[in-house]
Amino acid sequence: MSDKPQTVNHLAIIMDGNGRWAQSRGLERTAGHRAGADNVLEIMRAAKEFNIKYLTLYAFSTENWKRPAAEVGALMKLLQEFLFKQLPAMQKENVRLNAIGRLNDLPEAARLSLLGAMKATENNTGGVLTLALNYGGRAEIVDAAKKLIQAVKNGKIDPEKLEEKSFGEFLYDPRLPDPDLVIRTSGELRISNFLLWEMAYSELYISDVMWPDFDRQELAKALESYQNRNRRFGGVGKK
Ligand code: IPE
Ligand code: IPE
Ligand code: MG
Repeated sequence: MSDKPQTVNHLAIIMDGNGRWAQSRGLERTAGHRAGADNVLEIMRAAKEFNIKYLTLYAFSTENWKRPAAEVGALMKLLQEFLFKQLPAMQKENVRLNAIGRLNDLPEAARLSLLGAMKATENNTGGVLTLALNYGGRAEIVDAAKKLIQAVKNGKIDPEKLEEKSFGEFLYDPRLPDPDLVIRTSGELRISNFLLWEMAYSELYISDVMWPDFDRQELAKALESYQNRNRRFGGVGKK
């Protein structure tokens, strides 16, 4: 076993519990989403401090459209506000903004702000912040399969030669490494359709803290837990 501490290169977070955070304070759910959005920058900075190169945040799932229209509308508006308000901070931190999901189906204004912020930060080299928006793990696999079928039709790929690695090239962002650690806040013990393909061998950490209260210290606890994991990837692992 090497003496070097095991480091997290890609951290993915299911940011859950905004609604309960607000309700427990007698506030509207939207106030929780606002507090949650404000927390993103703090965690982005903390992640950089802990040398995490890739941070992926589950912000809106393909299933979240089931929520009342007013809540969905507030979330989309918050996304635009977040992008507008935090763009200077992302530039200062030299972070590249990235997104995965069915981005074409986002409301036009949100989609344009997103593409604008991605373009503005595209040459930043200090880390990658990926927002999962209108994202579903199953949708991603279906979308990859569609692209693959097209590539087969165009004679660009021989289906006999398809392997996990070449299939992975059809995912939303093939440049993203698999997450080392996936954190879910608010104590729920489920994946809720996040990164199904990518998290095959990720370590999981569930925090009981609601997302708006999940701070640098809570992140440090999760990373400490990760340090003590023995990742075996189906093999026999380290001693
Ligand atoms: C997470 O908080 C944010 C999104 C899913 C958009 P929730 O809104 O799910 O909060 P709870 O789970 O109802 O407390
Ligand atoms: C998962 O949270 C999605 C996001 C954090 C964006 P949900 O609150 O939507 O998940 P469920 O419904 O509790 O499984
Ligand atoms: Mg929730």
